[in-house]
Amino acid sequence: ESSIPSVQALMIKNPDKLTVPQCFLRADQEPPNFSNGGAHHFPSIPVPTIDLECLLSEEDTNSQLDNLRAICKEWGIFQLVNHGIGSSLLEKLKHDMVEFYKLPIEEKMRYQRKPGDAEGYGSVAGSDGILDWGDRFYMVTNPLHQRKSHLFPELPPSLRKTLESYVQELQKLSMELLGAMGKALKMDAKEMEEMFEDGRQSVRMAYYPPCPTPGQVMGLAPHSDASGITILHQVNGVDGLEIKKDGVWIPAHILPDALLVNVGDILEIMSNGVYRSVEHRATVNSVKERISIAFFVSPKFDAQVGPATSLISPENPPLFIRVGMEEFVKTFFSHKLNGKSYLECMKIDNS
Ligand code: SIN
Ligand code: FE2
Repeated sequence: ESSIPSVQALMIKNPDKLTVPQCFLRADQEPPNFSNGGAHHFPSIPVPTIDLECLLSEEDTNSQLDNLRAICKEWGIFQLVNHGIGSSLLEKLKHDMVEFYKLPIEEKMRYQRKPGDAEGYGSVAGSDGILDWGDRFYMVTNPLHQRKSHLFPELPPSLRKTLESYVQELQKLSMELLGAMGKALKMDAKEMEEMFEDGRQSVRMAYYPPCPTPGQVMGLAPHSDASGITILHQVNGVDGLEIKKDGVWIPAHILPDALLVNVGDILEIMSNGVYRSVEHRATVNSVKERISIAFFVSPKFDAQVGPATSLISPENPPLFIRVGMEEFVKTFFSHKLNGKSYLECMKIDNS
């Protein structure tokens, strides 16, 4: 476990703010393209946009669904606009999260992650032992009985209430999205619903302080999400996410009010490889703090993860094995988080 429990605290304590401890430094990393200290400045390719209102309207449904399908296949990620999450809720979330990070470190350490636990607050090391440049606060929010008593229920009251509303709204939104994503595959609507209804959901709030040498660190090391889908909000409007597209890391510029939706590994498997989970990473910069919140939508723990039965036929044989959620999660954590490599061991060789 790390001897630096909080990166934010480290930066506050460090008066000259010049030297980044060895434990954060990544020599092997392709340098971030986005940050001020990064080596390259790629023109940013816009991440495709989906308008939820249009998608759910009765007009032009087939071309909307074709478009959604093509984006989930070629990009595995999109910006969602007209998503129905009110700007006042997003403003409140920003306010409450900014206030949370202003709390004295001792206050935040009440939620400190304990060794061996994925949930809680603090700095996080990758599987290679190198620390990411940021503090994360991860907790399960659904099913309710899995909420840990010292986390969600003990949050400052205003943040707790705001998060409660936010999670409820995103829950509704994610079911609508998954419905459309399934429909675009011509998947049986019931099958999608049954996988995700009353499923496992979690949030991860992230705080990335400015870093004096952003080119040498990573806010969050490269990975794809193990979820069905993930909905990310850049709480204070600062960019930093990069996605791997055709083998190249490209910075994602996100519209201020958009939510970023990405296909996770479970949806890649359910779609029998039609949709692709996107590899991504978070970079940091030398000037601005960055605050984000990710909402992970996964099947319930007793679900079976595998290609959707309604998509499988003799012409379209399953490309992935079927395993229980529990085993899936175990496989995920037992492999090095080296890109998407762990998905390989779930593939069926049909050749
Ligand atoms: C972030 O951009 O802060 C998080 C990226 C992720 O969810 O992997
Ligand atoms: Fe992620």
